[in-house]
Amino acid sequence: MNSPRPVLVVGASGFVGSRVARGLAADGRPVLAAARHALPERVTVQAGVIAVRSPELSALPDVVRAACARTGSPLPGAVVASIGGWQKGAALLDMDPSLWSATLASHLTAHLDAARALAPLLGPGDPYVVLNGAASREAMAGSGAISVTGAGLAMLVQVLRLESRQAASADPARPDDTAPPVRFHELVIDHAVAGDGRNQDPAQTRTPAQVVRALGEILDDPAAPAVRHV
Ligand SMILES: NC(=O)c1ccc[n+]([C@@H]2O[C@H](COP(=O)([O-])OP(=O)(O)OC[C@H]3O[C@@H](n4cnc5c(N)ncnc54)[C@H](OP(=O)(O)O)[C@@H]3O)[C@@H](O)[C@H]2O)c1
Repeated sequence: MNSPRPVLVVGASGFVGSRVARGLAADGRPVLAAARHALPERVTVQAGVIAVRSPELSALPDVVRAACARTGSPLPGAVVASIGGWQKGAALLDMDPSLWSATLASHLTAHLDAARALAPLLGPGDPYVVLNGAASREAMAGSGAISVTGAGLAMLVQVLRLESRQAASADPARPDDTAPPVRFHELVIDHAVAGDGRNQDPAQTRTPAQVVRALGEILDDPAAPAVRHV
């Protein structure tokens, strides 16, 4: 029997990404855990995880191909992008312009860079899931850059989804008329993830297990909605 294609988790060094990589692997899904730097031990000790390290997103596809060849794994059949994170500080008008630029780069442009590099690794109908947070839907004072990039990220996923469909239907090399495009999804985590001490006194939390369950449902369901909240 062929081995199942792994899920490539980008941002696997982060709070959510590390728990997602570990949780998906604990559920029996092979995982390629990608990060720019060393991964936390909670990820690397988990059976079913192959660590891949690339300081640049543009170089990640080659690193992934090499890791798959070395370990005998098939290429990924899904991507989960857990890039970005939280920050709270000055009001937008008082924010250091260099922090604004850095947040645009890490929370929005990095997602486009990741999709550009990694979507070509996927086949027809494979899922590409982007994680987002509550600030993308709710203006949050002191976290303005996160709200703005989060709202932009939501639209980025919609455009990628639309263009993926259009590109698939215009491709003359398409195996048949019913071959579906790579399906882009956004999973919005509407509350702080439990255990993340950076969130002060959250009104509600979501456990990593709830996030992993919601992700698993998107990964497994070709008809999953474009946007899902957990
Ligand atoms: N934590 C929460 O409570 C919470 C709640 C709701 C939603 N979320 C969502 O979960 C997602 C991840 O958040 P998080 O809390 O896990 O953030 P985090 O702990 O700060 O981790 C962010 C990850 O993004 C990576 N990253 C940043 N810039 C990058 C770039 N330019 N290229 C490649 N990777 C880059 C980081 O890699 P390095 O380690 O190399 O810097 C790190 O792995 C976000 O979409 C966030 O909105 C989180």
